[in-house]
Amino acid sequence: MTQIKQIGVIGAGTMGNGIAQTFAVAGYPVLLQDLSEAALERARKTMESSLGRQVKKGQLSEEAARDALARISADTKLETMADRDLVIEAIVERLDVKAGVLKQLDAICRPDAILASNTSSISLTQLAAASAHPGRVIGMHFFNPVPVMQLVEIIRALQTTDAVAEAVTEVTRAIGKTPRVSKDSYGFVVNRLLAPLINEAINCVYEGLATPEDIDSMMKLGANHPMGPLALGDLIGLDVVLNIMETLYEGFDDPKYRASPLLKQMVHAGYLGRKTGRGFAEYHKA
Ligand code: NAI
Repeated sequence: MTQIKQIGVIGAGTMGNGIAQTFAVAGYPVLLQDLSEAALERARKTMESSLGRQVKKGQLSEEAARDALARISADTKLETMADRDLVIEAIVERLDVKAGVLKQLDAICRPDAILASNTSSISLTQLAAASAHPGRVIGMHFFNPVPVMQLVEIIRALQTTDAVAEAVTEVTRAIGKTPRVSKDSYGFVVNRLLAPLINEAINCVYEGLATPEDIDSMMKLGANHPMGPLALGDLIGLDVVLNIMETLYEGFDDPKYRASPLLKQMVHAGYLGRKTGRGFAEYHKA
């Protein structure tokens, strides 16, 4: 197994730019690819302001922030991934699109390059099956915001080799994150636990048990959660929570994962949480 030195990140959206920034701060040269020039431009601005905040907080020197930005190059062509040792895709959450990119990478990358997916719900085993070298496909599930969140959930497809899992675990530690390995399953571990909690909190609102504010404060004061489940649902996006519940419900074919009728209604109404200004609370742009 080659040592991981050169990183490729595909998709320069919310997650991709955070992943690129995190590797660059840790000293890795990163190539960030997106189909859209505008997305690459936005990603650079986001990374600049995120690094600027880290400098202000004293977490990073100005020089380190400048060096990190200089380590990130950007391109719209996938072919530039040819010399990368680890390529992480963070593109739209669709099996057909992700599988298509993996197939393209098979023709572009060295056979020993590792191909990781930041998918939050798609079966890694199904994704790996799309590659001509399925043993090198693995999940690296980062959390939002990437520069801040400590965990990387590493998901082994049925086909993933031990060497690939070890290399990815090691590089996760090298960027200052904490790796935890899980087998491939619907929702993996974090979302399998988190989405039903949020969903059940929404059922409590639906049944009129208590107000959203009180439900959140009960979980903060009684279960020592730093944030209430409804506020967390608003932060993640209620459409994303609904997607995860549907993945669990359909995947396990188990009624215990049925989405709350109120969650469905909120999504139908366009009350998706912070990103639309309204969820279980109202949010005003600063
Ligand atoms: P996003 O919509 O912010 O960014 C996706 C980017 O990928 C866009 O810039 C788009 O232009 C680009 N893209 C789409 N198809 C492409 C292709 N074929 N080649 C190159 N670029 C392409 O999405 P976000 O939120 O960053 O999510 C990306 C992935 O990360 C998804 O799989 C999502 O499930 C996962 N994820 C998202 C989290 C979140 O909190 N947003 C948390 C953990 C995982």
